[in-house]
Parts: sequence; C-alpha cells; structure tokens
Amino acid sequence: MNEKFIVLAIDGGAASGKSTTAKTLTQAMSLMHVDTGSHYRALCLKLLEKKVSANDERLGKALGALTLDTEITGNQGRIRLDGKVPDPDELRSDLVNEKVSFFAAQPDVREKLLGYQQSLAEVAESAGFSGLVMEGRDIGSVIYPDAQVKVFLQADERERKKRREAEGQTDAISLRDKMDTTRKNAPLACPDGALVIDTGRHSIDQVVGMVLDLAEKARS
Ligand code: C5P
Repeated sequence: MNEKFIVLAIDGGAASGKSTTAKTLTQAMSLMHVDTGSHYRALCLKLLEKKVSANDERLGKALGALTLDTEITGNQGRIRLDGKVPDPDELRSDLVNEKVSFFAAQPDVREKLLGYQQSLAEVAESAGFSGLVMEGRDIGSVIYPDAQVKVFLQADERERKKRREAEGQTDAISLRDKMDTTRKNAPLACPDGALVIDTGRHSIDQVVGMVLDLAEKARS
C-alpha cells in the first residue's frame, strides 16, 4: 500500500535542535531532509564571492544569473548553485555566520528561494520518499503553510550557545535570532498550529517521538 506523502515543517531559532531532530526523523521514516538554512548560507557565500553585499544594487541581477537545483545523497536533498553543491565547511564559516541574516532579510533573496523550496515536495515524492522534512525559519508559516506536521523548537540561550561551542563554531546566535525575528519578510515566528517543543527539557528520542506521533496521526 502506498503511504500518504507528508510534509513535516520544523522551525526554530539558531541551535534550537532542528537539524538533529530532522536527521533523526529521516532514520525513522523514509523522508527527504532539506535544511533551508544551507540555502541562505549558499547564496550568501556565492554573493560574497562575487563581491555583492546584501544592500548592493547589483543583488537582483546577481541572483537572476544563478541556477538552482538539487542533488540527492542518501536522505539529504542538497541545493546546487550553477550545478555545484557548496562545501559544507564553507557554509558554516565565521564570515557566513556573520553575514547570512543580512542576505536573508532581502526580499530578492527570499523570492529566489521561495519557488525552489516549494518545489522540493514534488522532488522528494518523485525520488520515492514517503515525505519531506524541511527545517528553517518560515517553513510552516510561508513555504508550506499546509504542512501536515508543524513543529516549533526552542531552547534557552545558554543551552543553545553550549551546542554551538561543542561544534567548535563562532556564532552570535542571539544577534542572528534578533535579526531573523524582526525582519519584515517572513520573520522567524511560531507558525499557526505548530507544536512547540523545548529541546533543552527533552531528550532527542523524546522530541522525535512527539513528532512521530504527529506524523502517524497525519497519515491515518
Ligand atoms: O538554520 P541556519 O542557522 O543555518 O540558518 C542560517 C540563516 O539563514 C538564519 O539565521 C536566517 O537568517 C536564514 N534562514 C531564513 N529562513 C529559513 C532558514 C534560514 O531566513 N527558512
């Protein structure tokens, strides 16, 4: 019997546990995982390489010249820019951490990614996955407002800083969260109908268990 294809939207601030939750979910279900933070990071990196800043008047033209598509490796759907998957280490560099939210606040940048991200459920279904788990800041509110499962993850700032330090990263997470929450376009917010989970108070198995319960209900 074919399972009903479902979309799981996982939103939350920096280091709130989105990637760990999404990756663990893909091991429990046949889902394609898409990390939309990496899309913004990839565009940021590419534009910095082209010496185009977030408020540069050449931004629209530089974005228009870029082609986007997807490489599927295992359960990961990774963005390709002009046919190339960006180096994951470069996406997490200190410079990209510092600049990415400035680019993400630009309507042209969000517009460039909107249609691409909305097309990924079809990409996942065509590739034989039984669902898509997409993580970001505006997935349940803007990209897939009709997602069958919506989750909003949060954790206190000390806990989130500890997580980034354990990954060896320099990342001003509260500054990024502030910029992401206060921008005009698709701000970081808890989407309507989302289950709010504090990942500092639950183990990863408990968090994944709560999401799996929702997915099971959505399928029945
Ligand atoms: O998830 P990650 O921390 O890698 O995201 C990097 C940045 O990309 C965020 O701080 C935010 O500015 C932007 N972003 C966004 N909308 C998304 C995902 C990420 O604006 N859906």
